[in-house]
Amino acid sequence: MSEAPSRVPQPSGSQAPLGTPQPTSHAGVQRSAIPTITEILRDRTGEEMELNDRHLNPQVGRIVRTLGFDRTWVSGEGAHLVDSTGQRYLDLFGGYGVFAVGRNHPQVIEAVQEVMEARTGNLPQLGVTLLSGVLAEQLLIRAPKSVGAMVPANTGTEAVEAAIKISRAATNRSCVLFAEHAFHGLTLGSLSVNGNEEFRSGFGPLLPGCRSVPFGDLEALRSELERGDVAALILEPIQGKGVNLPPDGYLQTAQRLCRQAGAMFICDEVQTGLGRTGRFLALERWGLEPDLICLSKALSGGLVPIGAVLVSRAAFDSVFDGMERAVRHGSTFGGNDLAAAAALATLRIIESDGLVQRADELGALLLELTRPLVDRFEVVADVRGAGLMWAIELGPPRSWARRSVWRALEHAQPGIFSQLVTVPLFHEHHIFCQVAGHRMNVIKALPALVVEEEEIRRFAFALEQVVGQAERVPSAFARFGLRTGRRMLRASVQRGRPARASQGARAQPSGSRLAQR
Ligand SMILES: Cc1ncc(COP(=O)(O)O)c(C=O)c1O
Repeated sequence: MSEAPSRVPQPSGSQAPLGTPQPTSHAGVQRSAIPTITEILRDRTGEEMELNDRHLNPQVGRIVRTLGFDRTWVSGEGAHLVDSTGQRYLDLFGGYGVFAVGRNHPQVIEAVQEVMEARTGNLPQLGVTLLSGVLAEQLLIRAPKSVGAMVPANTGTEAVEAAIKISRAATNRSCVLFAEHAFHGLTLGSLSVNGNEEFRSGFGPLLPGCRSVPFGDLEALRSELERGDVAALILEPIQGKGVNLPPDGYLQTAQRLCRQAGAMFICDEVQTGLGRTGRFLALERWGLEPDLICLSKALSGGLVPIGAVLVSRAAFDSVFDGMERAVRHGSTFGGNDLAAAAALATLRIIESDGLVQRADELGALLLELTRPLVDRFEVVADVRGAGLMWAIELGPPRSWARRSVWRALEHAQPGIFSQLVTVPLFHEHHIFCQVAGHRMNVIKALPALVVEEEEIRRFAFALEQVVGQAERVPSAFARFGLRTGRRMLRASVQRGRPARASQGARAQPSGSRLAQR
């Protein structure tokens, strides 16, 4: 067995002979041989929070500890996460929606293993490979006729970056229109079309020429398109931040207006694609035929990073229009065999297990079970969704006394009311979910499409219980405040400083920084 890294600080200044492990000063960890994965999992499980705080993002650690969500997750299976005590949690985060076929699906694992056992000639770079070609073929067969080629990528934001670049190059225009509250990723190009100030702030100047329009407002779109400089409009068919459904006719008309104005219509299906909304692609609900379609997340079963843009043949050929321009966009790992194999297995599972239909039916059941909460509870403003992309929106109660408590809470920390629901769901019912965006009282669920009907019913039942408790705000908040207060104290003590002396960011019991994407 290899030696685990020791955290004993080493004396500095002594010269070690060449070839011997060098002591490093980084966080006092001694450099040593790296153990195998089996050894790491066996010997160091339980250290993840300490490692995170030391080397990764301690602010995330603080939020997780404050909410009491600091479990040691030892495995995942289907729609569930399992902690080190063996407790199973219904996972409604779904890794931000990547686990449509469920966590660790055996057929996806097998496909990845098959590639490794075949020792394929992966990534020849000046060459082409079979698996990404078959993946492109299979995706294009299932997509609208408006697209005819695939550009591979590794993540959602990379797919969006590619779509922005292709639409600019194909139209020779620079402006990209995007919707308010849109989320398309966090790299600089995608951030420039992100409709949420909390993500944009501090990273400017962003790409020039990107302008926002209210989601659903056709007049605003029309007047922006009339300026004649628009390369593309990018839209999520259903917005992930808040689970906002488009008004009737909006998407179809938006697409038509783009065509008339010579602008490209980009559908970002990174979250809504691959069966999530009860259609293979959400755009099928409205019969859309975009020029570009962005895919990622669930495409490779959650096991291997992947992204892809499906592009109209005309746009593709105008960008890659000669041998000297053949590689003007791409990415080293784009189209790699592991991702393509995982994606092909995912497509096979979605079809053989009827997951699109399953998402449609279970989504309808979830709405049927949870919509009555709007009438039953004053604090439930709306319940909405499509397929297994679902949300509940909480709002101020009608009665004066409860409303003033709500106002006081929201004044102290916008979005905190939702935590009166998500925290007990986690602790009392072992259901893992969060809010759908920063400073909003919208709780979101993206369960695996393989989730059992019983689990959907259990969630609806648990939700009713905790919303009922939350509505009795003062006592619910007293319990919540006491619990999170204790956790904040423990979190700060673990970090070695008192609760009020945090550096920079405030403790955020709202958890909104970790909101569902
Ligand atoms: C609609 C949409 N587009 C793009 C992205 C960015 O994907 P990634 O996080 O893989 O970069 C996301 C991520 O949540 C998304 O929901």
